[in-house]
Amino acid sequence: MQQKIVILDFGSQTTQLIGRRIRELDTFCEILPYDKFPADDASVIGVILSGSPYSVHDSARFKVDLKPFIGRIPVLGICYGAQYMADIFGGQVDQANTREYGRANLEHIDAADPLFKGIEKNSQVWMSHGDTITVLPADYHAIASTADVKYAAYAGSKLPVWAVQFHPEVFHTTQGAQLLKNFVVDICGSRQEWSAASFVETTVAELRRQLGNDRVILGLSGGVDSSVCATLLHKAIGQNLTCIFVDHGMLRKDEFHQVMDAYSDLGLNVIGVDASEKFFSDLKGITDPEQKRKLIGRDFVEIFNAQAKHITDAKWLAQGTIYPDRIESLNITGKTIKSHHNVGGLPKDMKLRLCEPLKWLFKDEVRRVGRELGMPERLIGRHPFPGPGLGVRILGEITPEKVAILQEADDIFIEGLHRWIDEDGSPLYDKVWQAGVVLLSTVRSVGVMGDERTYEHPVALRAVTSTDAMTADWARLPYEFLAKVSNEIINKVKGVNRVCYDISSKPPSTIEWE
Ligand code: XMP
Repeated sequence: MQQKIVILDFGSQTTQLIGRRIRELDTFCEILPYDKFPADDASVIGVILSGSPYSVHDSARFKVDLKPFIGRIPVLGICYGAQYMADIFGGQVDQANTREYGRANLEHIDAADPLFKGIEKNSQVWMSHGDTITVLPADYHAIASTADVKYAAYAGSKLPVWAVQFHPEVFHTTQGAQLLKNFVVDICGSRQEWSAASFVETTVAELRRQLGNDRVILGLSGGVDSSVCATLLHKAIGQNLTCIFVDHGMLRKDEFHQVMDAYSDLGLNVIGVDASEKFFSDLKGITDPEQKRKLIGRDFVEIFNAQAKHITDAKWLAQGTIYPDRIESLNITGKTIKSHHNVGGLPKDMKLRLCEPLKWLFKDEVRRVGRELGMPERLIGRHPFPGPGLGVRILGEITPEKVAILQEADDIFIEGLHRWIDEDGSPLYDKVWQAGVVLLSTVRSVGVMGDERTYEHPVALRAVTSTDAMTADWARLPYEFLAKVSNEIINKVKGVNRVCYDISSKPPSTIEWE
């Protein structure tokens, strides 16, 4: 049976990060809402209680019944999780005199405790809490402290319970990965069997069992998730998979053909549909970003459905939905921050069942699975690209002429990122989460080229670093690289006479301009 760590989510922003760290330990984990512990699931080998935006004193705090697992399975409480258990078990949690936020050092460590195996005295940890534990419950003892936090970590004297008031999952806790390894591997006994190879093997077997001889349709976007999903399904059911790739005319330069070729090399059965004329004709005169987006979405579904209807015996619709798309974490007001992606717009009479084989994977794991399946690096390492394509990167009305200008500028920037090798030997492209060019077609500025005065459009280069696109920072690209790209765009792309670099982070800006 596949072992599993359950992370009960009390709404902390770093809950997903705990999940990622555990997967890095080749251990399967599932993030569940704080009150959804699967009591009858024998595969759970450990439980982690996450942090929370709440204080244990808030009347609206999240309460959970610990009985189904305390004493039975090892438990690790993190931040709120640590304070919640201290409070419930009869200890005391008070508001800290000063909010304990930022770096601290573990001055005292109980080196005999298995949670701290290999962790050095004075190791740096990251604190982020307004409350602090002032009295430990009976039968619990301190196992680490900092200058300001007496009970930085504690453990059960009789029960398999551990708790830390700092965040081992974040980068600033320098030995956090070791601590989590101590918990997951040594304390919970993970066999560390979760790997891309094991995922492919079990998922292919599972898909064959689930789908039998049924026909499956999948919408390809050229992106990593849908491509890996298709390749995995192809391995499982071969030609019973039919993929549909719609060209809405707003893909990047030569992208449609390049991606079709890559899919054909992978042996996929793909129907490529050039629908650009319909999109451009429907987009005529539309300038409002939301209206443009909705129209592109509507046309896309219409064209996809028209194609899908020809595959009359299809029983399943496969989607490349991945784990971060589905995790529902709760914010302070209890509202869902991110909700499940679903198949909006599909006609009811299609009666297709949904197949989402990547739904447990994080983005980096999807890439590892792609490599395991032998997919080309150029396809796997691709930056995310929005469904409406260059349509969300052209201000004002979208026309084929503007798309052509943007495709040229975008190609220079993206190819430049591929070709520029950084000091550590890897291409600049791999250092950024996502990059693209925005055509500021509602703006004109004066320039001079040779003896001629020009009055043309600026473009903005956008490149960001991120782990999940929820937050992002502008990438610190080398000046020499930006200078080269700027020169090349202005010299080669007719209609552009100025290049800007977007230095806004998200929030408050977004990655895309529209
Ligand atoms: P924002 O602009 O919201 O983008 O910071 C976050 C991530 O989502 C992508 N994005 C989209 N993807 N359809 C998509 O499939 C869309 O309408 C869309 N809008 C933004 C964006 O490229 C980034 O990766």
